[in-house]
This record gives sequence, C-alpha cells and structure tokens, in this order.
Amino acid sequence: MSRKKDKPRKSAAEAFSRRDFLKGAGVAVSGGLMVGEQVAGATPPEGATQVLGPGAVPITLKINGRPHKLNVEPRVTLLDALRNHLDITGAKKVCDRAACGACTVTLNGNPVYACAVLAIEAQGKEIQTIESLTTGGKLHPVSAAFVEHDAQQCGFCTPGFVMAVKAFLDKNPNPTMQDIEKGLGGNLCRCGTYVGVRQAVLEAAKAMKGGKAHA
Ligand code: FES
Ligand code: FES
Repeated sequence: MSRKKDKPRKSAAEAFSRRDFLKGAGVAVSGGLMVGEQVAGATPPEGATQVLGPGAVPITLKINGRPHKLNVEPRVTLLDALRNHLDITGAKKVCDRAACGACTVTLNGNPVYACAVLAIEAQGKEIQTIESLTTGGKLHPVSAAFVEHDAQQCGFCTPGFVMAVKAFLDKNPNPTMQDIEKGLGGNLCRCGTYVGVRQAVLEAAKAMKGGKAHA
C-alpha cells in the first residue's frame, strides 16, 4: 500500500506533530542490541563492548524519583518492565507499536512511547509515570482538568494523554488551540474525547500558572 493512500486520514499538522513526538522521544527499537559492560545508558569503554542477552540482565531504572532494580531480557520494553516486572500499571498497553500514545511516560521530561523504548535504554534517565502525579491524595492540575472537562470515557488513552499534556505544558505554558492540536498529535483517543482534552489543556495551563487552584 502506498503512503499516498494514508494521507487523507490525518491532517498535515497532525502527521507532523506525531513525527515530532517520536523524534522527541528519541526512541529506538533494535534487533540485536549491543551495549557496554555497564549495560545501557552508559558509554562503554572503547573495546569493551559485549552482546547482552538473550537471558535476563540486571538493570536499574529510576522511576518517579526512586531506583528500582530488576532483571529483564534486553528485548523487554520499558512498558513491559513497568507493568509486568514492577507492577507500575498506569501506562497502558493498547497498540504496543508506537501508534496510539496510551503508554506515554516521560524520560528526562520528554514524552516517549514506553512500548517503543527498551528498558535497558531507559537506564540513567528520569522516568516519570502517571503514578507520580498524585501526591498526598491531591491531583495534579492536568489530572484535575481532565476530570473537570470530562476528558475521558473508557480511560485507556487517559494516562498517556495526561503525561503527554504535562510534558507539553512544561515546555509550552501559554499554548494556543493550534499548538495544543499539534503538540498532542502523538496521542489518539478511540472514544473521541478530543474536545474535552483540549479544554482540559487550556484549563491546566491556567492552573499551572496559578490561574486556578486545582492542587
Ligand atoms: S501502546 Fe504504546 S503507543 Fe500504543
Ligand atoms: S477515553 Fe477511550 S480511548 Fe480515550
């Protein structure tokens, strides 16, 4: 099937923003992964490269400010490491192929599809999941705005959307509606909650600047 046939299904702006999302994520899924003795995240000394796997290797992930040690095969994605090895299940597995955004978490503040990042590649980075956004029973302004504007139905896309919105607003505190549409083009909602989501983003932007106290 040619790429031309896909074009009418999404606007040029949306297509652009989805590519931007992936670029920002810096994702890479590789077949045979070669990393250094200190595993991923560190530059191996010259000549010290070794092939890891296929068996499990010990890694440490810094998630929501806390280090977690686990043993995973090098092929395990960050999403599966979170959900299946650490029981951190906020990020959802929907497409499992970097297409929908339901698994969005942030790496060093940038939104990434956790299903498209290998767990060992996420070592040495600050991983933030939706679980980090509620402290002491208080919702983050983005989560609160989603509730207030009915920006979810089945909720499968919602944790990913909330993380994408937080990352977006951290870098774009005064977005226009056009910025929002483009900036969130990497997340899809099968229930069609886009109107509520966009309203929630505007509301959260205000709240995060002290315009309205949600949290
Ligand atoms: S589950 Fe990762 S992008 Fe859809
Ligand atoms: S609320 Fe159902 S997929 Fe978005």
